Amino acid sequence: MKMGSEWIDAGLLRHFEAEGTNAHRLCTIGGGWVERFGRDILISFKKTAARERLFQELYLWSATAGFRLGRIFTRFLPKKNEERETARLLSGNAEENLQTIATERHLKFGIDFGAGYAVGLFLDQRENRNYIRQAPPKRLLNCFAYTCSFAVAAASVGAKTVNVDLSKKSLARGRENFALNSLPTNDHSFIADDVLSVLPRLTRHGEKFDMIILDPPTFSRSPRGKAFQVENDFEELLLSALEVSERSARILLSTNCTSLRERALEVMARYCLKVSRRAGTFHRQPPLPDFPPGAGASTVWTTLR
Ligand SMILES: C[S@@+](CC[C@H](N)C(=O)[O-])C[C@H]1O[C@@H](n2cnc3c(N)ncnc32)[C@H](O)[C@@H]1O
Repeated sequence: MKMGSEWIDAGLLRHFEAEGTNAHRLCTIGGGWVERFGRDILISFKKTAARERLFQELYLWSATAGFRLGRIFTRFLPKKNEERETARLLSGNAEENLQTIATERHLKFGIDFGAGYAVGLFLDQRENRNYIRQAPPKRLLNCFAYTCSFAVAAASVGAKTVNVDLSKKSLARGRENFALNSLPTNDHSFIADDVLSVLPRLTRHGEKFDMIILDPPTFSRSPRGKAFQVENDFEELLLSALEVSERSARILLSTNCTSLRERALEVMARYCLKVSRRAGTFHRQPPLPDFPPGAGASTVWTTLR
């Protein structure tokens, strides 16, 4: 059995360790990928053959790279969201709790392999979290906040944040992530509600933000039954966000929808800026060294002028 060249090399592994990051991809192939969270491993796969290949190659890689493996979890990647499953333990002690703590440039994030399909941290947003830390905002609006990783990055450099997500449980994990990093939550709020109804409310209250994160799911339905479909509704979302944007605010546009790549996001944003009589410049963060081109979310920042 030979290991494919899709695995990160020992040099990149050392680079991550040196910068205080132990949550990153190890390998990406057509049928799946392997991620590391501390010592624990998550193999995501579309077909059993891909899972078997990644599992076998993982042992070869760990021996070559000198990496001590912890538990190994696997997760099926279904075509339909309704078929998403929680990760399963493939190797390791089944008596241990399913949580661990991962680090990204020394910030800590709680990982829970038993919490559902997503385990707590989206690794493809690493460079966007880094941008927040390099160019700190004063007040961040974190829409679709999930476990508040963007807010933790912002709070670590002194920002106040407002986090909005439909899921109370995810926001509770967000608060835990603040605590893990010894960040008090006094200057931060956590709103369990639909982003599309919170944004007009914030506008009515005259709230303004100098950074806004828009990282919606491809599809969701609010408890009031309203559907959000990213291809159709991203424009409306951005137009609402522009209402609460400071004059030179920065807005992150991000999606996993494969039909909305960076170029399409930028075209859409230019249209919304024109409609709102605003202007903006665009930039992308550097590509991730552990993700092949085209893998991961499409993301672009716009800075209003
Ligand atoms: C793709 S995740 C966001 C990931 C997050 N930005 C991060 O990088 O950690 C999508 C999140 O949006 C939330 N969500 C879905 N529809 C929503 C809505 N209409 N309003 C607020 N939150 C919503 C889900 O509960 C989920 O936590």
